[in-house]
Amino acid sequence: MNPDPANTGKRSTEPTDLTVQAVIARRTSCRAYQSKPVPEAQVLQILEAARLAPSACNQQPWRFAVVREAGLRRRVVEEGFRPGIKMAWALDAPVHVVVGMERSFVTHRFMAFIAGVDYPWVDIGIAGEHLVLAATELGLGTCWIGWIRPRALAKIVGWPRSVQPVMVITVGYPDDSAPGVPPALRRKALTELVRWW
Ligand SMILES: Cc1cc2nc3c(=O)[nH]c(=O)nc-3n(C[C@H](O)[C@H](O)[C@H](O)COP(=O)(O)O)c2cc1C
Repeated sequence: MNPDPANTGKRSTEPTDLTVQAVIARRTSCRAYQSKPVPEAQVLQILEAARLAPSACNQQPWRFAVVREAGLRRRVVEEGFRPGIKMAWALDAPVHVVVGMERSFVTHRFMAFIAGVDYPWVDIGIAGEHLVLAATELGLGTCWIGWIRPRALAKIVGWPRSVQPVMVITVGYPDDSAPGVPPALRRKALTELVRWW
């Protein structure tokens, strides 16, 4: 079943059997959610997709805090997000996944310094997008939120200083009255992005 064969961007709450390419084409940032809770099995499934992500030297620097309790989600939005961008819609998302980073010394400080590539940020991006695409496959909506106050978030979810909050990903059943625009229509052309040799 493909609930969106024409890739219109219209969301559906039905699980799909889309190919990876179709899931990628279907994902849009979801900023309107139904209050319906997400079954724990589905939350575990998307966390498992993140767990399987590749990482530099297999260091797996990602950490996740799953916030479902309403009072704590309110604190994530009111204290953990920076002001200036309207994000009150996130209060309706029944799950907030706070994505954190725990750095190792050798790979993430020494080797990253030598190579000039800050590996754990790359790793976190991959793991987060695994989670997002797995959620899309299940008919769930998501939105990455980077306009955050890391220290406030660490306090809210009780992380030690060694874990740095990097992102929040909202997860829930989309409210279909606010469908997204398909990414393909809003991206730079490959000709702008790629050099072939
Ligand atoms: C690293 C990152 C940070 C983002 N931060 C925010 C944010 O703070 N608030 C928000 O509403 N959307 C945020 N977004 C969502 C982007 O605005 C969105 O992905 C982009 O406009 C493309 O739209 P699409 O996701 O619907 O394809 C973020 C996305 C990424 C990848």
